Amino acid sequence: MSAYKAASEARRRAVELAIESVDRDIGHDIGHGGDLGAARILFPGAPEPFVDLSTGINPNPYPVPPLSGDVFARLPDSAALANLIAVAAAAYGAPGNENRTAHIVPAPGTQILLPLIASLVPPGRAAVLSPTYAEHARAARLAGHHVVEVDEAGALAEFDLAIVTNPNNPDGRIIAKEDLAAVAAKLASRGGLLLVDEAFMDVAPPAASLAGEVGRGNVAVLRSFGKFFGLAGLRLGFALTAPHLAERIAARLGPWAVSGAALAVGAQALADQAWIAATRARLAQAANRLDGILTASGLDIVGGTTLFRLVRSQAADALFHHLGRAGIFVRRFADQQQWLRFGLPAAEPDWRRLEQAIDDFTGNVAAAVMPRTRIASVTESATTPAVTFPAASFDAAFRARLRDLLAWRRDVRRFLRDPLPDGVLEQLVECACLAPSVGLSQPWRFVIVDDPARRAAIRDNFAACNAQALAAQAPERARLYATLKLAGLEEAPAHFAVFADRSTEQGHGLGRHTMPEMIDYSAVTAVHTIWLAARAQGIGMGWVSILDPKAVAATLGVPEDWKFIGYFCLGYPQADDKVPELERAGWEARRLPPLLRR
Ligand SMILES: Cc1cc2nc3c(=O)[nH]c(=O)nc-3n(C[C@H](O)[C@H](O)[C@H](O)COP(=O)(O)O)c2cc1C
Repeated sequence: MSAYKAASEARRRAVELAIESVDRDIGHDIGHGGDLGAARILFPGAPEPFVDLSTGINPNPYPVPPLSGDVFARLPDSAALANLIAVAAAAYGAPGNENRTAHIVPAPGTQILLPLIASLVPPGRAAVLSPTYAEHARAARLAGHHVVEVDEAGALAEFDLAIVTNPNNPDGRIIAKEDLAAVAAKLASRGGLLLVDEAFMDVAPPAASLAGEVGRGNVAVLRSFGKFFGLAGLRLGFALTAPHLAERIAARLGPWAVSGAALAVGAQALADQAWIAATRARLAQAANRLDGILTASGLDIVGGTTLFRLVRSQAADALFHHLGRAGIFVRRFADQQQWLRFGLPAAEPDWRRLEQAIDDFTGNVAAAVMPRTRIASVTESATTPAVTFPAASFDAAFRARLRDLLAWRRDVRRFLRDPLPDGVLEQLVECACLAPSVGLSQPWRFVIVDDPARRAAIRDNFAACNAQALAAQAPERARLYATLKLAGLEEAPAHFAVFADRSTEQGHGLGRHTMPEMIDYSAVTAVHTIWLAARAQGIGMGWVSILDPKAVAATLGVPEDWKFIGYFCLGYPQADDKVPELERAGWEARRLPPLLRR
């Protein structure tokens, strides 16, 4: 490695480490979105400008009006502050008639309000509905609370401070207003406070907001200005709460907390009903378009709002790096490594770059493989039907191709040594997880084996077991057996093992009361699924079962109650064939089983 390369690699690693240590500090996520400085160090060769999809901020901001010089030269004006408060109280639906404005406090963004509101209750026990924006837990700790995470809104009522992000970031989950009101009522009886961060409420159904309920005295609602209006740098946000709490918050912020520019722009934007309505519609359209790009590539959208979408993928890490190298920065999460959050691209060129990069990621396998392994099937010239989404329909051409796939799937033992493209194995595992399983128990456990020493131990295991199997053959079969190639462990670029987790509680035991072995069968369905999914991409798979299962489990260091299902080699086949290798070798022939009718 050249000195330059080594230095830039060290810098990249330093950033990774810095990001990881931020992650440890705040307990949840990898830093924050929007840090393009970090993106540039992580991906030094990426094309500029970066497409920043790492935040949930509207990429098409409210058009900032020209501002007079006074706005910057003078301290913020009290009349302008009163005007903003009145406009915001109406826009967010603060309760009360005459004293509506007493329920709202503007601040330089909501971030600064988190520890401030957390300290409205004496240090005690705080609960954060998780996973969510990591700053809430940190802020509550700063305010002296002992913080726990809960995953269910009902559990929040037992605490002194309960924190909910609604809609949640990053999964978009919305807790019904009635449920939150019930939590608030229970908290009230013990002097507890409910903090609801409605940073993304502008793009949720308006009825979901708890802003109109803050008069009950122990509820604080936060509203961000910067996200929906796309002006995060202006630093403007609001707390809505009961007047006595609003007074305490305002006192702690002190005078002139909000800049003159924020007062002016905020008041104009919050009153601009036409822009707000048009923007909601535009964001919904854009989110739809994003869905189309992500789902057409097989990515699983598991949540979001119209300002961002959350994707879950086994290949999340590989996709994050692939996009980063293409100059597209998305948000990943340390505690949820299969998640990636995608914000919205700003303009057409950004959309095209995203489309292209995702296409490259999912299509790279086909591109890498096609010249080597062409499927010479009878329906080769048939045009591939367009994928339809969301309702899947399969026409005759597709059915014919599916039969081809089933017929051309082979157990492969003769591999090229070429590596698989990054992320492909993870994508295949994700496909495998679409397999059926008893009670939806999904008991399959995949172990990717990269370590050369462990691979060598598996090869030795196979050699010993195969020698025993040869010795056990009847004399007339032994000679033929000895010529068979029964594994591609030496050349296959990718290895993995599959186990069935017999102790899994997923599925709550459904379907395995009388037949516990259903867990093992379920894991086998995943194997067949990955076999087909790989073949569809021109990748061959070989099942190796001539192994001592106990020794395999020891080599791979897996839990005791994982039942070994099989060891698998994956790679590009040296050749394709419609006939099984054992049939070609004269060992056995395929035939139809008797079909009984009763
Ligand atoms: C449960 C199972 C275990 C297998 N184990 C081995 C093995 O250890 N070595 C091998 O060469 N093939 C193994 N195979 C592959 C079969 O021999 C192969 O599937 C069969 O000959 C039919 O060929 P095809 O898969 O190409 O249609 C296994 C297949 C299954 C389903």
